Amino acid sequence: MQDLKVLSPEEVKGLDEPRISPSQNQSEYSKKIYLESYGCQMNFADSEVVTSILMEQGYATTSNIHEADTILLNTCAIRENAEQKIRHRLQSFKPIKAKNPHITIGILGCMAERLKTQLLEEEKIVDLVAGPDAYRDLPRLLEEVEDGNKAVNVFLSREETYGNIEPVRMHTNGVTALVSIMRGCNNMCSFCVVPYTRGRERSRDLDSILKECTQLFESGYREVTLLGQNVDSYHWQNPETKQSINFAQLLEKVAQLTPELRVRFSTSHPKDITNEVLYTMAKYENICKNIHLPAQSGNNRILDLMNRTYTREWYLERIQSIRNILGESCGISHDLIAGFCSETEEEHQDSLSLLEEVKYDFGYMFSYSERPGTPAEKKLSDDIREDVKKRRLQEIIDLQRIHSSYRNQLMIGSVQRVLVEGDSKKSSAHHFGRTDNNKVVVFPKKEEMKGEFVDVIITHCTSGTLLGELIN
Ligand code: SAH
Ligand code: SF4
Ligand code: F3S
Repeated sequence: MQDLKVLSPEEVKGLDEPRISPSQNQSEYSKKIYLESYGCQMNFADSEVVTSILMEQGYATTSNIHEADTILLNTCAIRENAEQKIRHRLQSFKPIKAKNPHITIGILGCMAERLKTQLLEEEKIVDLVAGPDAYRDLPRLLEEVEDGNKAVNVFLSREETYGNIEPVRMHTNGVTALVSIMRGCNNMCSFCVVPYTRGRERSRDLDSILKECTQLFESGYREVTLLGQNVDSYHWQNPETKQSINFAQLLEKVAQLTPELRVRFSTSHPKDITNEVLYTMAKYENICKNIHLPAQSGNNRILDLMNRTYTREWYLERIQSIRNILGESCGISHDLIAGFCSETEEEHQDSLSLLEEVKYDFGYMFSYSERPGTPAEKKLSDDIREDVKKRRLQEIIDLQRIHSSYRNQLMIGSVQRVLVEGDSKKSSAHHFGRTDNNKVVVFPKKEEMKGEFVDVIITHCTSGTLLGELIN
């Protein structure tokens, strides 16, 4: 057990790796799409919508790029290196296109939306550009390319939620699924490109969310993650009864579908997460006690420059409320940016002291990457040297690792309810699953238990993973 190489949560989520859609629905007549997805969970959820739209039109998907008629990349624009990765990937398609000039290459998602037709000029290999709200138009865009044209649709909608489209689940373990509840973002964090790539915030129809969750449960899924850039601002009004639903009420309705379906959600915004949401979480056992609460910085001047609209004190009060209402075992994770414009050494220390105060279970940590067109790019100077950003980021990561270990060690000796997601990637003699507070647990397999809730006693841990034994 000791020398078992275990996976960190990022590795399990595959956050840094593109996802390649598996082969589905193939007949000798259908045109084949190869779809690779980058970025956040929302993008992965969108790829399932894209697949659904294309399969409806008779296309098939393939995981073998060499048998594809069309290559699609669903892209991310959040940091410069996310876009560089896509540009390198496009370079690697050149021999494929040279061999088969009829192959269509399309860019979807946030980078498509950000660069629009500029992408066609800069990357000659690209035939099609479709933004996140243009996926219903993909069959037409593909036809346009077949007619010998370049095709672009980067129109951002105020209404599109793809609510009536049943996503085709991919990369699925058949146990956990992503359910998009809203799109876009109305916040204007000064560093962030998302409001420009995904447009205005809109919430999805309640009934379609409940229907999708019910169908998932009926097909054997046991966990849904409700997704939005800022789930706490979910707001939907029934057009007939005029009754309004907020996020806490949506969460309650999903939790009430069946106690056998676990519910998670992401992302919460510190300015918007309410005690009503926390009390709803406390009330239902099947709402997982885990909150992703991005901080971005621990310093008030920087938070103000970032336009996060809360202070360190406000943020810590929200953490205190989480602890008061949900207890010390509730998982809390964060996002943090190192080296934002004009950040001093003391201000960086404030981010470290925030980590020290909260002792998060987990964090996603980044060094600041200036994005064209954002308020920070227009008004502030990206003046922290790369090596300083790197060093600050490393200090943040090192401290977080200590806290992740600390939180994991607190769980040793406890019995955890784990939803089994499948075999551990490193050993088919072990299962892996997640605890209520979102920690990955690896334990020796006795029999096939995928999709089942089991009790596991935690015996060891690393900073990324808990190791345990099944108890009967
Ligand atoms: N909607 C979520 C996060 C979306 S982006 C929220 O509000 O928290 C995911 C994370 O990427 C952000 O939380 C932030 O930490 C990071 N990020 C966004 N823009 C960035 C940039 N320009 N440079 C570095 N990190 C960035
Ligand atoms: Fe970006 Fe801020 Fe919106 Fe999150 S809340 S997506 S960081 S603008
Ligand atoms: Fe997600 Fe990247 Fe777009 S993080 S919203 S895919 S810019």
